[in-house]
Amino acid sequence: MQTIRQLKPLRKAVAGFREKGGKVALVPTMGALHDGHMALVREAGRRAAHVVVSIFVNPRQFGPGEDLAAYPRRPAKDAAMLAEAGAALLWAPEADTMYPADHATRIVVGGPSAGLDGVARPGHFDGVATVVAKLFNQVRPDLALFGEKDFQQLAVVRRLVADLDFGIEIAAVPTEREEDGLARSSRNIYLTADERARARALPRALGMAKAAIEGGGDVADALARAETMLREAGFGSVDYVALCDATTLAPVDRLDRPARLLAAARMGAARLIDNVAVEPR
Ligand code: PAF
Repeated sequence: MQTIRQLKPLRKAVAGFREKGGKVALVPTMGALHDGHMALVREAGRRAAHVVVSIFVNPRQFGPGEDLAAYPRRPAKDAAMLAEAGAALLWAPEADTMYPADHATRIVVGGPSAGLDGVARPGHFDGVATVVAKLFNQVRPDLALFGEKDFQQLAVVRRLVADLDFGIEIAAVPTEREEDGLARSSRNIYLTADERARARALPRALGMAKAAIEGGGDVADALARAETMLREAGFGSVDYVALCDATTLAPVDRLDRPARLLAAARMGAARLIDNVAVEPR
């Protein structure tokens, strides 16, 4: 696996892949790789001849007071995991390669970025959309893979690609979970052992609300009960528990179309997010 940090050699390496033939897949990440990322890399390997993984902790998607400085960075371990998984190229630009001092452009996606984390983390999706657009233009992949764990991000990226005619296929990969159901996340390392045990309430609360809603129960009641479960388990603040249209992420109060149940809540130093599909019968 080659590791590249500058744009010119990146373009040359991707041109080499193009000469060999076969699709080029991009898996964008911020590093601190775990099984969730590796599932994306494996799926990329099934779909494309050449797998490019980017690692860039994107300062523009962190708000003031968020965990940019604390965000885990493990470059050597990440590179070893990617080489082992058969990635062809690690694209790991420095911050000033991605954002030179005179960088002045920002992408603002409306639609699916409006609610949920768009409210809880103002500017977050502008930062995501800007860096994802840059990564797409840098690597020019045929397809890019994103985890369903960040479901709103996935919806925002799909909107970005459609609206700006990127012509890149976006593949969604299901959330990887620990044995007790907690979604795998680089931020789980912020949890103490006690918080980690309590955090399993998040997938459980979503599972119970999903069952209640799919069973015909009242949506508002199910959401309120899930929120109570989270508070009782020790989640300090609950940013949202919401049922949304699976594509637009507009809130829905009746299960009359494919929907997604999404939650974000804080346990100790970790802000955890999770989501599940909710399907009308
Ligand atoms: O999901 C992530 O790790 C990041 O938001 C992404 C897509 C790599 C953009 O920085």
